[in-house]
Amino acid sequence: MNILGIETSCDETAISIVQDGRTVLYNGLRSSMKEFLEAGGVIPEQAARKQLEYMPVLLKEALETDIHFDAIAVTESPGLQSSLLVGRTTAHTLGVVHNVPVFLINHTQGHLASVFLDTDFTIEFPVLTLSLSGGHTELWLRTGHSEGTLLGTTQDDAIGEAFDKGANLLGLPYPGGPAIAHCAQNGNPLAYQFPLPLQGKPGLHFSYSGLKTALRNVIATLNVQNEQIKADVCASYEHALCNHITDRLHKALKQHSVAQVHLVGGVAANKHLRLQVQQTCTNVPVYWPTKLEYCTDNAAMIAGAAYFNKQFTVP
Ligand code: KG4
Ligand code: ZN
Repeated sequence: MNILGIETSCDETAISIVQDGRTVLYNGLRSSMKEFLEAGGVIPEQAARKQLEYMPVLLKEALETDIHFDAIAVTESPGLQSSLLVGRTTAHTLGVVHNVPVFLINHTQGHLASVFLDTDFTIEFPVLTLSLSGGHTELWLRTGHSEGTLLGTTQDDAIGEAFDKGANLLGLPYPGGPAIAHCAQNGNPLAYQFPLPLQGKPGLHFSYSGLKTALRNVIATLNVQNEQIKADVCASYEHALCNHITDRLHKALKQHSVAQVHLVGGVAANKHLRLQVQQTCTNVPVYWPTKLEYCTDNAAMIAGAAYFNKQFTVP
């Protein structure tokens, strides 16, 4: 079963063809992020105009592979409305032309399926999934591909947003996650103390706005033009952002017995986080997407989610 996935929820235009939810046969993506670097964020109408430009180019590339597909999967929500319309219009037109069904997929469900791309490990439930990106910070207890409970979510900023806003305070470029991670390589993660959010409070929720404020206060007392000080601040801030994740994970693992832990979303690319999560999960295998391009937004995960959610019957 080959599914052609289409993803256009933010700045990216992406098409992928995935076999049985796991084997990526074709993966194409164009990003318009460069256009928005100066603005510090995506401008919705401009993003959609770029997607109109990129979509026919990518579609041509995908169809020229001559890979047969049995269905189409497209991101339905959440995302920028005008951008989502570009994807959905393309999907429905292609569905009519090729006489195949079109499935509407939730973007978050896509991220949850990204961990299976180009892998063959045995999938066992229940799974604890940390979905961490610029827009969401979620902890799921999943009993099946499309069944589960949201144990915790952010009360304010998402972790990726905390990386992005922190980078902005430090004069580093957008997106902030990779920039902070790069600068942190030469720093000491224990140089500066940051608070652990929601300590002693019940539940498994997240809160990142306090850490961002703490960073602003730390920066106010230092000369961050000094390269070593900047590296130490980056390493300490990155460590604090990750500590909050592992604190919640540790608590969740004490409450729920699970077969696997999955780490997905753009922030799953962070090496410091991966290490900390692995150290927290002493008796449970941890999986994250096999490639960086499967952590950040992509169309392969949308095709994968459609397959695993079994929204269709095999003809
Ligand atoms: O999943 P994604 O591509 O888009 C959303 O759905 O939001 O995630 C983008 C987020 C950005 O906030 C970016 O700073 C963060 O992922 N990110 C990282 C890293 N690479 C991307 N954060 C920390 N470390 C990284 N290496
Ligand atoms: Zn995303």
